[in-house]
Amino acid sequence: MNTDYTKIEKIKEWLKNNLTDERYGHSLGCADAAKEIAKIMNYDEDRAYLAGLIHDCAKSIPLDEAKHLLKENNFELVCGEENNKKVLHAPAGAIIAKKEFGITDEDILSAIRWHTLGKSDMNTLEKIVFIADKIEPFSRGEIEYKQKLQLLKKTGGADKIIFDCYAYTIKSLVDRKMVICPRTVEIYNDLLLNNIKN
Ligand SMILES: [Fe+2]
Ligand SMILES: [Fe+2]
Repeated sequence: MNTDYTKIEKIKEWLKNNLTDERYGHSLGCADAAKEIAKIMNYDEDRAYLAGLIHDCAKSIPLDEAKHLLKENNFELVCGEENNKKVLHAPAGAIIAKKEFGITDEDILSAIRWHTLGKSDMNTLEKIVFIADKIEPFSRGEIEYKQKLQLLKKTGGADKIIFDCYAYTIKSLVDRKMVICPRTVEIYNDLLLNNIKN
């Protein structure tokens, strides 16, 4: 991918103006993490950086606005996303990325769309952004970040880390007595049965 650095700077400026400071820091951390993970997974680092940078671009949009945007674009939602502010920014983000930044790369748009819930058979960029969002150093700290990168290098694949993310999410939802989407359980089972041997 040919990187247009002027465009990256403009996107950063937009994010800085439209996200909280904390979320902007997380976005920069996620972009850096996505680039590092891409290096390990032999993927286009600039493409991963861009996807990581903009994955949370819709995070500050009010729920009603996000719902309206998705309805207007006939966006298909899953797992009760329409009433969940925590996850609705992911599909809404794919629309904003297209409209606001002119992103047409379907893999980048899909990585944004699925960065919260994930899905079965994620492609490489979807996996990179999914993991980068969970391990980036701004929110998690450098030590945990480096440990996860080491694990990724050692296992040579992303599925072990993704499996751990699902296991953590399911445990945490059970602890908080919250509803678990059957899709989440399905993905966990798929990863357990098909990919994770140890
Ligand atoms: Fe997010
Ligand atoms: Fe995020």
